[in-house]
Amino acid sequence: MSMSILAPIPELYVSYESAQKLKVEAGDLPSWDLTPRQICDIELLMNGGFNPLKGFLGKDDYEGVVENMRLAGGTLWPMPITLDVDEKFAEVIKEGQDIALRDQEGVILAIMSVTDKWEPNKSVEAEKVFGADDTAHPAVNYLHNTAGKIYLGGPVTGIQPPVHYDFKARRDTPNELRAYFRKLGWRKVVAFQTRNPLHRAHQELTFRAAREAQANLLIHPIVGMTKPGDIDHFTRVRCYEAVLDQYQQSTTTMSLLNLAMRMAGPREAVWHGLIRKNHGCTHFIVGRDHAGPGKNSAGEDFYGPYDAQELFRAHQDEMGIEMVPFKHMVYVQERAQYEPADEIKGDVTILNISGTELRRRLSEGLEIPEWFSFPAVVEELRKTKPARHKQGFTVFFTGFSGSGKSTIANALMVKLMEMGGRPVTLLDGDVVRKNLSSELGFSKEHRDLNIRRIGYVASEITKNGGIAICAPIAPYTATRRAVREDVEQFGAFIEVHVATSIEECERRDRKGLYKLAREGKIKEFTGISDPYEVPESPELRVETENVEVDNCAHQVLLKLESMGLIKS
Ligand code: PPS
Repeated sequence: MSMSILAPIPELYVSYESAQKLKVEAGDLPSWDLTPRQICDIELLMNGGFNPLKGFLGKDDYEGVVENMRLAGGTLWPMPITLDVDEKFAEVIKEGQDIALRDQEGVILAIMSVTDKWEPNKSVEAEKVFGADDTAHPAVNYLHNTAGKIYLGGPVTGIQPPVHYDFKARRDTPNELRAYFRKLGWRKVVAFQTRNPLHRAHQELTFRAAREAQANLLIHPIVGMTKPGDIDHFTRVRCYEAVLDQYQQSTTTMSLLNLAMRMAGPREAVWHGLIRKNHGCTHFIVGRDHAGPGKNSAGEDFYGPYDAQELFRAHQDEMGIEMVPFKHMVYVQERAQYEPADEIKGDVTILNISGTELRRRLSEGLEIPEWFSFPAVVEELRKTKPARHKQGFTVFFTGFSGSGKSTIANALMVKLMEMGGRPVTLLDGDVVRKNLSSELGFSKEHRDLNIRRIGYVASEITKNGGIAICAPIAPYTATRRAVREDVEQFGAFIEVHVATSIEECERRDRKGLYKLAREGKIKEFTGISDPYEVPESPELRVETENVEVDNCAHQVLLKLESMGLIKS
C-alpha cells in the first residue's frame, strides 16, 4: 500500500471567508431543513467521507448506483445518497436553481445547485439496493414511510459542518485521521466498524485482525444512525472508553463516525470499506452478517451470513482497501479463549451468549459472566438499562366515567408508594382536565388531544424511571395504541380495562352526570351519547361489581409482579 493514501482527500468546503459571504447570500434562497439522516449524509459528503461524491446523487448516477452499484461514469459506489424532499417543497424548485440546506436549528450548512429532480421508483430501489421490497427492513421502511417522494440531486458547496456537542474530541474527519496516521507513521491501519458495545469476542477479533494484517487498529464506531432499537450512542461510547485501556495505546486509536447506516448487508459492507479508505485505512474487518437488518417479514434472514464478505472480496482490488474477513467468534471453555467458530479443533465446550440473551439478562438483572464481557462495560449497560424492577413504566386505566378507574388508580398509587423505590405520578382524568387540558371539551378531536397529552407526560415519566398511573376514559382504540407506542420506547405499558358495565356506572351515578346526560344536559357523554371502543387485548381486565377496590388494585400489583416490574 503506498503512502499516497495518507495525502489529504478533497472536501467540499469553501474557505472561511467565502463561507461567511455565501451564508449571507444563501439567506435569500429557498431552503430545505435537512432530516437527521440527511445531516449525517451531508457531513460525510462535505468532509470527503463519501469521496468521490460531490453532492447528492443526480438521476443518472442514482440509476447506475441502484442498478449495478456504479455511478454513471462507472466508478464503484454501492449506496444511493439522495436528497429526498416532500412534494410541496419539490413543486417550487426548478432544475438549475440553488437551494440552502439547513440543520434542524436553521443553520445553513451548505448550498446545493439542483441539477436533477425526479420521482424515484422506491420499490425498485428497495429490491435492488436492499434485496427486497419488505418494510421489515429498516431502510426499506424508511424509504417508504419516512423519506420524501421526490429526490433532488446536484453538487454541494460546503459552508460549515453540522455542529456536535457530544464527544467532540472523539470525532475526526477523514483528513484529521489521515493527518494523525501520517504523524504517527502508521502505514497500515485496519478499521473495525461497530454499532454495538465491545465485548470480549470483539476485542479478540480486533486483536487478531491487527495481527493478521500487521497493521495498527482503528476502532471506528457509528454514532450517527444505527438500527432502530440499538443501544444509544452515548452509552456505547462510554462503553468503548471503558475498554480502550485494554488496547495498546501505541497501536490502537478510536474515532467516532457520524454515519447513518442503512443495514444493507453486502452493499453496506462495500460502502463501509470505501468510507474507511477515505479515512486513511488500508484494511477493513468484515465479520459474520455485516450490517445485517435482522429478519424479513417471513421470519428469514435478508442476506446470507457471509454474503457481505463475498461482495467485498469481489470488489476489493478496485476499492483499494483490503478485507480482513472473520468468522463468528465463540468462547472455548477448556482453553479459556475466543476462537473463530470454523477453526475449532477437538471435543470442546463452546459458550455463547446471543444478543437476545444478553438483553434478557440485562432486563432481568441476571449475571453476565466475565468471559463474555468486561465488568466496566456491563456496569455502563446496567446504568442505561436497569433491571425491569428499576425501570419506569406506565399503568393506563381505561373505562366509563364512574367505572372506578380513579379509585383503583389511587389505591394502586398508595400501594406503590408504600413499596417505595420509584416516584409515582397519578394522571387522573378529572385532574388532567383541570390543568393540562383545561381548554378542551369532549369532541373526538379534543378527547384525542387530551389522551395524547397524558401519553406524552407518561412517556417522559417512564423515560426518567418513574411510574405513571393514568386514569382517563380514553374511549378510542387508535389513540390508546398511539400512547402505548409513545411509552414503549422507554418502558412497559400496562393497559387495564376497568370493565364496569354502563348499566352499573349509571346505577351508581356518583357525580350525577349520567342523569344529566340522559336529560340531554350533557352532550357527547361516553356510553350514553358518545362511543366507547372496548379494549380487545389489554394486559389486564378488572371487574368491579362485587369486588373490593383493594382487591382490584391488588390484581394490578400481581400483574406488575408477573411482568417483572416490581419485586415481591
Ligand atoms: S376522555 O374521553 O378520556 O378525554 O375523558 P376524560 O379526560 O377521562 O374525562 C372524563 C371526565 O370528565 C367528566 N365528563 C365527561 N365524561 C365523558 N363524556 C362527557 N361528555 C363528559 N363531560 C364531563 C366525567 O366526570 C369524567 O370523569 P371520570 O373520572 O371518568 O368519572
